[in-house]
Amino acid sequence: MILPVIMAGGTGSRLWPLSRDLMPKQFLKLNGADTMLQATVKRLKNLDALPPLVICNEEHRFIAAEQLRQINQLDHNIILEPVGRNTAPAIALAALAAAKKSQDPLLLVLAADHVIADTPAFEQAVAQAQQLAKNDKLVTFGIVPTHAETGYGYICRGEATANAFAVKRFVEKPDAATAEQYIAGGDYYWNSGMFMFKASRYLAELKQHRPDIYEACEQAMAEVDPDLDFIRVNKEAFVACPDDSVDYAVMEKTAAAVVVPLDAGWSDVGSWSSLWDISSKDTDGNVCNGDVLNVGSKNNYVFAETGLVATVGLQDVVVVQTKDAVLVAAKDKVQDIKKVVQQLKASG
Ligand code: GDD
Ligand code: MG
Repeated sequence: MILPVIMAGGTGSRLWPLSRDLMPKQFLKLNGADTMLQATVKRLKNLDALPPLVICNEEHRFIAAEQLRQINQLDHNIILEPVGRNTAPAIALAALAAAKKSQDPLLLVLAADHVIADTPAFEQAVAQAQQLAKNDKLVTFGIVPTHAETGYGYICRGEATANAFAVKRFVEKPDAATAEQYIAGGDYYWNSGMFMFKASRYLAELKQHRPDIYEACEQAMAEVDPDLDFIRVNKEAFVACPDDSVDYAVMEKTAAAVVVPLDAGWSDVGSWSSLWDISSKDTDGNVCNGDVLNVGSKNNYVFAETGLVATVGLQDVVVVQTKDAVLVAAKDKVQDIKKVVQQLKASG
């Protein structure tokens, strides 16, 4: 059986000032009528799967539950993390919750921050992955890259098998020069950040490659009732868990990875520029949200939350105005917005 596991505990700091600690991007409506979390859940409607398991920070429990209620997804579980320890521990908690129920489902691990335009193509890729995951593979979904993005993982494909390729190498977030080489070489996919594997297989790999994370998560789940709507893990044990992503902790190290190509209009809504990429634009290439007036400006992303924002003669710029903060950034430097958030946090 497939258990959709939705990782919704990120901070979305590159989408500041809209994405905040109290309301990070997975809970925002960034692309259409649904929030990112709601769109992720709705995408599963045709899959023969168990009710989704959402993993988020305990601060966001009511937001997550309310957003699921709004789309009538009343059947669900939510694991609450007292602190974020990144995705390797988050997935371990999901796998351990299943194990506690004496189940070994195929985990369909999904990020809550993706746009996928073609749901049937996504369903098709999941069907392909299912067979491979049943045979103890760790499946990742690969996207044909379009540019040397440094915010993604890169997968070098090896030998072709039925519906997939072996993974020759998995490199998480290479530097720009390395990413350029990979793109030029042509054998690489972007890691979509979605995975499929047996719960038991993930735990075995984690135990082998990161026993410290495995043990901390096992302790954090030891006393937990996995049937509750809100599953609260042991705070002390989880705070002591090392912080690492599934990409570094498992996918770069495992020998059992395979990649299923995914051509489904996938986009990670990780930054203002990726949001500009996927949004519909006016004849000057501007994406405008709210009360915006552009004079002689081209290829900008402009968001006005309160009042009017006017631009004159700007090009390739991001302007985001909210009640209490304004961001003005070069569109090709938006990855650095997380540094603004870091500095704000450091200065209290
Ligand atoms: N529960 C939980 N706890 N979820 C988390 C945590 C955490 O501590 N940290 C991140 N997440 C969630 C985020 O909300 C998001 O939905 C997903 O996990 C991925 O985390 P990101 O922080 O957005 O990762 P990334 O975009 O830098 O990189 C990943 O995705 C790329 C594609 O979008 C990697 O898998 C890359 O290899 C991949 O290319
Ligand atoms: Mg992301």
